Amino acid sequence: MSELIQIGGMNERPKPPRPEDLSLRFSDRAIRELEALETHYPERKACILPALWIAQREYGGYLSGEALAEVAFRLDRSYAEIEGVATFYSMYNTAHPVGRHMIEVCTCLTCQICGAYPIAEYLKEKLGVGFGETTSDGVFTLHEVECLDACDRAPLIQVGDEYYGPVDKAYLDNLLDRLRSEAASSVVKLADEIVQVHLRETERDR
Ligand code: FES
Repeated sequence: MSELIQIGGMNERPKPPRPEDLSLRFSDRAIRELEALETHYPERKACILPALWIAQREYGGYLSGEALAEVAFRLDRSYAEIEGVATFYSMYNTAHPVGRHMIEVCTCLTCQICGAYPIAEYLKEKLGVGFGETTSDGVFTLHEVECLDACDRAPLIQVGDEYYGPVDKAYLDNLLDRLRSEAASSVVKLADEIVQVHLRETERDR
């Protein structure tokens, strides 16, 4: 069996730090962004979603208990409320730390008909991991997702902010090689791009 980064049970939740152990990690840039976003909404509660994207970027792609606690602290909300929101949306990575690149394989109907499961099996075999797992070198996390709304490109996968499809084995071989050579995290990049979209909306509505 392959050696994996231990992800824990899917139902295990990260533990919130005790208040006295809370160490804040938002950069100056992140704090400025959050302050700008807060001006956009009538109350801080409405800023939870973009604040979580900032946290996902600042914490390297994973919303740990510490990350959720920092969002709760900065928005003056309860930890339970922030965790409830974060775990409701699948694009927030709350279940376990993720690799530098998250490969999301659509297995919904159109992609399934066009070969999504053989593609998924190929990726599992090549990477030595199953869905919800991360390779031992920390480069790839593999996930199964519902329709990505680009069925005309089935079978489709998403990595960061890019869609790739239709994919086949040769395509995946090239893509994995390219991604492996990229030092920057596409998970963090995606989070940052979503933060920038929120900030642009804030600017536009001024
Ligand atoms: S079914 Fe895969 S993108 Fe729609």
